[in-house]
Amino acid sequence: MSDHLTIVDHPLVQHKLTLMRDKTTPSAVFRQLLHEISHFLTYEITRDLPMTTKTIETPMAEMEAPTLKGKKLALISILRAGNGMLDGVLDCIPLARVGFVGLYRDEATLKPVQYYCKLPEGMNDRVAIVVDPMLATGNSSAAAIDLVKAAGCTDIRFMCLLAAPEGVARMQEAHPDVPIVTAALDERLNDKGYIVPGLGDAGDRMFGTK
Ligand code: URA
Repeated sequence: MSDHLTIVDHPLVQHKLTLMRDKTTPSAVFRQLLHEISHFLTYEITRDLPMTTKTIETPMAEMEAPTLKGKKLALISILRAGNGMLDGVLDCIPLARVGFVGLYRDEATLKPVQYYCKLPEGMNDRVAIVVDPMLATGNSSAAAIDLVKAAGCTDIRFMCLLAAPEGVARMQEAHPDVPIVTAALDERLNDKGYIVPGLGDAGDRMFGTK
């Protein structure tokens, strides 16, 4: 992918996103909408996957038919909210391997600290799609991508639902080679690092926690 930021402004995506932003939307509906939007974001983030052809026979004729070139995929979920996008991506790419990165924010330094990292084997040979619904400060996304790069991966894409300009700038600075696909670019972060207007805490909205 060449563009650093792609906003998927499809009417169905935007309609579903508005329902997600509404604070009266219950958790079960919120989860379902995130799942559905993930399909559209996957469509966009995979549109430049390398293709080849193979000879097949339809019931009517032999043809040279397009097929994926065989580059293996890895989905990397940033815990915990990333898991809300995982099944939607896997619906589209069922054979992808899945990894998880867990990070928490050190309250003294405000820097992300890793508490879990389990990546698929052979990352140097895979296209990685890192997923996290909220690109806010960009610190955890940048740190997660550091880990994916350290595992040898050279083709990494980042998928989120909402992005803040601050997060996009942080990613551009830390990982200019990683394209971002999002459903919307919001106005700003507030002083607590939440996206405005945003949708609140995606993990809490998803799992009914507070
Ligand atoms: N994480 C969230 O869940 N929401 C925000 O607005 C920012 C970070």
